[in-house]
Amino acid sequence: MNHDIYVLGIETSCDETAAAVVKNGKEILSNIVASQMESHKRFGGVVPEIASRHHVEQITFVIEEAMNKAGVSFSQLSAIAVTQGPGLVGALLIGVNAAKALSFAYNIPLVGVHHIAGHIYANRLVAEMKFPLLSLVVSGGHTELVYMEKHGKFQVIGETRDDAAGEAYDKVARALNLPYPGGPHIDRLAQEGKATIDLPRAWLEEGSYDFSFSGLKSAVLNTLHNAKQRGEEIDPKDMAASFQASVIDVLVTKTIQAAKEYHVRQVLLAGGVAANRGLRTELQKQMAKLDNVELVIPPLSLCTDNAAMIAAAGTVLYMQGKRADMALNANPGLELE
Ligand code: KG4
Ligand code: ZN
Repeated sequence: MNHDIYVLGIETSCDETAAAVVKNGKEILSNIVASQMESHKRFGGVVPEIASRHHVEQITFVIEEAMNKAGVSFSQLSAIAVTQGPGLVGALLIGVNAAKALSFAYNIPLVGVHHIAGHIYANRLVAEMKFPLLSLVVSGGHTELVYMEKHGKFQVIGETRDDAAGEAYDKVARALNLPYPGGPHIDRLAQEGKATIDLPRAWLEEGSYDFSFSGLKSAVLNTLHNAKQRGEEIDPKDMAASFQASVIDVLVTKTIQAAKEYHVRQVLLAGGVAANRGLRTELQKQMAKLDNVELVIPPLSLCTDNAAMIAAAGTVLYMQGKRADMALNANPGLELE
C-alpha cells in the first residue's frame, strides 16, 4: 500500500528560525518563518550571538505552529529533516538539537540536510525535477553553479572565488546607505535607474564557471568615493542599475553557457538573490532562446531561507535511505558534494 510521507523540516542556519511540514516532498502543508531581520538591521549585518539567542527563543513555537498548521501529529511524521550546515555554528546547533530531541522523544528517523541542497530542492515544490539539470545558487553566502545528474547527487562546476553575489549586494547597499539586507533595495532602485556607469565584469579564464564579485564591489566603492572627493553627485538609482547589470550579465551568461555545455533539460534558480527581479527577467529572456531547456524559478517566499525547502530535500534523502543519528552535529563548513 502506498502511504503518504510527511516530513518536518527545520532551518536555523542564519537569521530565520523556520519549520515546515511537506507532504510527499512536494506539497507544502505549512511553512513558518520567524525572521530576526529587525534585530540585526541596526548592526548592518547578522550578529551570530544575537541570531543564536533568537533561535533559542523561537524554535519551539515555530515548530509547534508548523505542526498545528499542517494538522499533522508527530506520530504521522516519516522523518525530521534539519539543516546541518553550512551556516553560523551557534545558529545551526539550535535547529540540530531541536531535531535530535524530537527524533529521540518520538522515535522518528532523522535526516541531515545541506543548506544549499535545500535551496535547490525549493524548486521541487513548484515543478518536477528533470535530469540532468543545472542550478544557479545565489545567496548571501553562496554563488554556485551546481550540476545534478540525479536526485541527491551534486557537482559544483563553478563557485565564487571571493564574495557571494548576495554579499556583494549587501556591501554595495551599505555604501549607498541602504538598510540591511540591501539586495531588495538595490533591486528596487535598479528598476528606476539607468545602467550608465561603467563597471567591470569578472569573466575569469576562458571556460571557467567560477565567479568573482569583489572587484566589482571595489569598483563601486571607488567610484562613489572619487565622486564624493570631487564634490559630484552620483544618482544611487543609476549606481544600483549599473551594479545590478554587471552582476546579472555574468550570472546569466555563465549559466547559459553551462546549460549548453552540459546539455541539461532544466535550469533551476535558487537562493535569496533568486528573488531579484532583474535576474529573473534576464534569465527568462536568455533561456527562451535555448531549445528544450526548461527554466524553473520558485516564488519569492521559497527563494529566501525557509524550512519547506529543507523538508523537500530531506524527503529525497529519506527515500534514498539516508539517516542521521544522535551523533549528528552542526557543521558550519559542510561540503555539498
Ligand atoms: O538565501 P538567503 O535568504 O540566505 C542565505 O543563505 O544567505 O539569501 C540572503 C541574500 C541577502 O544577501 C539578500 O540581500 C539577498 O539574498 N537578496 C536579494 C534580493 N532579495 C534577497 N538580492 C538581490 N535582489 C533581491 N531582490
Ligand atoms: Zn540560504
